[in-house]
Amino acid sequence: MDKAKQIQLFNAQCIHNRIDPYFAEDIDCFYNDSNEFSLNLKRSSHGLTLYGVQHVALRQGFFNQLPQDQRVAMLVSKLQAKGIFQWVLSELDSQPEALVDALDIGKGRSIYKLITNNDAVVVKEKPNNAQHLFNQIAAACDRPYPKSQFKQVGSRHWELSECLDEAPGGDNGALLAMHAKAAAFGDFIELGDRHFENYMLKDSSLIAIDVAHLMEPDNHHWTKAYISGGLYECCVLQHFASDANTFSSALQLFFNEYEKEARHLFDEKQCQGNEDVLAIIEKWGGCDGFLDHMRGMTCDALQVMFERLPYKQLLNQLVQSGLCLEGHQELKMYYLADEKRMSTFFRSEELGVDIFETIRELAFKKLGITQQFFVDYQRMGAQLNEILMALPQQRSASNCPVSSH
Ligand SMILES: Nc1ncnc2c1ncn2[C@@H]1O[C@H](COP(=O)(O)OP(=O)(O)OP(=O)(O)O)[C@@H](O)[C@H]1O
Ligand SMILES: [Mg+2]
Repeated sequence: MDKAKQIQLFNAQCIHNRIDPYFAEDIDCFYNDSNEFSLNLKRSSHGLTLYGVQHVALRQGFFNQLPQDQRVAMLVSKLQAKGIFQWVLSELDSQPEALVDALDIGKGRSIYKLITNNDAVVVKEKPNNAQHLFNQIAAACDRPYPKSQFKQVGSRHWELSECLDEAPGGDNGALLAMHAKAAAFGDFIELGDRHFENYMLKDSSLIAIDVAHLMEPDNHHWTKAYISGGLYECCVLQHFASDANTFSSALQLFFNEYEKEARHLFDEKQCQGNEDVLAIIEKWGGCDGFLDHMRGMTCDALQVMFERLPYKQLLNQLVQSGLCLEGHQELKMYYLADEKRMSTFFRSEELGVDIFETIRELAFKKLGITQQFFVDYQRMGAQLNEILMALPQQRSASNCPVSSH
């Protein structure tokens, strides 16, 4: 496909004031200027901007559809321009001739998979050194972390890491347990931005590969926003919501695993005297308090996620029935951002408009949906809410120390 066609396809997915179109000059600059390491999505710096899987595939295509030898030559010149080519070669223990392919695997920006005859690594720029700190803390807690090398050149941070597999989706108990363990660790160390695409799979565990926000003061606020938006580990529970019994068992399983992991993390003996971990344990003040706090917040935010799900279904139906989203740019953004993902209108609470009201009105008008749809859904939702609301209380009662008197 030629460049003009690629640009045309991408620009059909632009979102007014949020994701800007590409011009031929943007792409030429990325191709010809070695200093342009990445082809970024042109996201607005003010206001909420979410991209979808279609944006990603089209953006990656500008690099990945070039001929193979050109891809390798282009990446080599970009690595040289950033002063990291020799470092990458030495970490790979390779000569330049051994590089056989390069692919852009990044989402909103370019991140490269570099392939040799017997190895593949991922090269990316990082905004800070939080991943390095995370890897050290994870090692001390006996939690998995990516095998990575770090290098700072001037003010830029670089990471070279092993190439990991995508985490599988699905609805089985083992996956639920895997997500619960990751959630407990993420909450314990206050790791932010833990959406599904920031985890990869290694040895049946989820590994955080995009650590930039660690122990930030507003982590609590963001945890609620990500869960409400269907983006944190516990949101896999949406696959278990077909009936009250299934949901109740899944929720129990999730929090049993979560608790097991939390008790392990709070055990001071296991962290080999690591001062960062000891400081985290002290900050939380005790495992029972941590569990109560996190269960309460998680269950509240999950209720919001479940309230949003029918609107996602209606938006899909509206698009399938031929609604043109050009006159509704916020709906276009959420349709694209939530497509083929578990997310549900992430950060929609920040919009100036009530997006759910807009969907509701359109559904009445264009799909012939009646009030009964919402009444039925609320009845189902009320059952899930009851289960969610009961959980923190049941648990916190069972956590009360038994009096010896
Ligand atoms: N070590 C890795 N192994 C395999 N794939 C990786 C690895 N690191 C990153 N990726 C792929 O690249 C994607 C983006 O990586 P990452 O989350 O680190 O970047 P980012 O800072 O979030 O950039 P973006 O703005 O693109 O989201 C990941 O979702 C994953 O698909
Ligand atoms: Mg990421």
